[in-house]
Amino acid sequence: MRTTPSNLVIAIDGPAGAGKSTVSRSLAEILGIERLDTGAMYRAVAAAAIHHGVDLSDGAALVALAEALTVEGDGEVLVADLSVGHLLRLDATNSAVSLVAATPQVREVLVRHQRQWVEDRNGSGVVEGRDIASVVFPDATIKVYLTASAEERARRRVDEGAASIIRRDEVDSTRAVSPLHVAPGSRVLDTTGRTIEDVTGEILGWLA
Ligand code: DC
Repeated sequence: MRTTPSNLVIAIDGPAGAGKSTVSRSLAEILGIERLDTGAMYRAVAAAAIHHGVDLSDGAALVALAEALTVEGDGEVLVADLSVGHLLRLDATNSAVSLVAATPQVREVLVRHQRQWVEDRNGSGVVEGRDIASVVFPDATIKVYLTASAEERARRRVDEGAASIIRRDEVDSTRAVSPLHVAPGSRVLDTTGRTIEDVTGEILGWLA
């Protein structure tokens, strides 16, 4: 019987469309550990705020939503009893999420949820986001910063549109709290034109 590794954290950061979700899903499957999409958590707070008509500048109300967030076993995200899966990729959510993610008190709560999620899984997980290596798990087993050319990233996120991605990346990289950047100790990997197997294989090679 295969045992689940303990204290194995793979931190994957990078801009939208760099390949984080595909690569982290593949790594999690191969390693036999679970994957946490922290972008979905920020999206969930944004989507729930829109659903409930919460003003996006109302930090206290956003924090209350973040506190009520839970990640189910299958990765489904709930905000209190609201299932937000179908709302996460809407244009309105894309537009609102960077503002929500720039709210320090919201980040504080979600970072706490993320650390707890890993603790509840034997200290293991593939965790993807923007500040995983810099803030959430600076001592992760492996820290990876995925990137790709602007053209390739826009092609991968064709549903969102290049203009929206560029705007979001700009806000995410220049905000005051936990901006997207290459954390000390992170290895930068450009996924442009590379297969999932190739990228995943390179990362697994670092584990050996
Ligand atoms: O990975 P994504 O595109 O689903 O992330 C949605 C937004 O959430 C992204 O624009 C920035 C924010 N985010 C963040 O600030 N910190 C994280 N750890 C993950 C996402």
